[in-house]
Amino acid sequence: MTRLKLGVLISGRGSNLQALIDAAADPAYPAEIVLVISNRPEAPGLERAARAGIAHRVIADSSRQGSSPQDFAASADAALRQSGVALVALAGYMRILDSSFVAAWRDRLVNIHPSLLPSFPGLHAQRQALAAGVRFSGCTVHFVRDAVDTGPIIGQAVVPVLGDDDEASLSGRILAAEHRLYPLAVRLFAEGRLRISGNTVVIDGAETPEGVMLNPPEALVSRAG
Ligand code: GRF
Repeated sequence: MTRLKLGVLISGRGSNLQALIDAAADPAYPAEIVLVISNRPEAPGLERAARAGIAHRVIADSSRQGSSPQDFAASADAALRQSGVALVALAGYMRILDSSFVAAWRDRLVNIHPSLLPSFPGLHAQRQALAAGVRFSGCTVHFVRDAVDTGPIIGQAVVPVLGDDDEASLSGRILAAEHRLYPLAVRLFAEGRLRISGNTVVIDGAETPEGVMLNPPEALVSRAG
């Protein structure tokens, strides 16, 4: 089996990178990570790549580093192409990508975001969800378009928001879901099962689970009287 060559862009912790590394450790998984790029030299995710024996490099993207998003776009693009990358996954890459990069990798660039988009795009999605008082939140994997956290949605995972949640507990619950969703979405791409139609994604052979999940649960009613 030829495996899809995946490039991963990170800025920090890299737990989603780790989930992808773990998935790809199975030879039957249809993608392999060939390059990890971080814009921050101190990103712990780089260690994860090193430990897994995956090529990794730092490419600066800010004026503080004597660089710019345009420089990053050009260097990252060249490095990814050189490695034969067919799909780029943003995994906690915390800068807005230059539009030249988004255009060059259109429909081959995916992102994971810790909310049920289009709700709560941007920073602190979990804090936004708590402030809005929603009963469910989750995460979204989507193709990347120019506007932040927009683009055709590949998949979502839902988690309940609990009464005593704070940002840390909700983030942890969502993160566990992210680690399941991202490898699944990349697998579907690698298997050629995603077709973009306008702003939606059609998944070949997907069996969507039916059913309703209530929060609060209906069982609560019996306790009322
Ligand atoms: C995740 O919550 C992801 O959804 C968001 O940034 C965070 C990255 O975490 N885009 P990690 O670096 O993968 O641990």
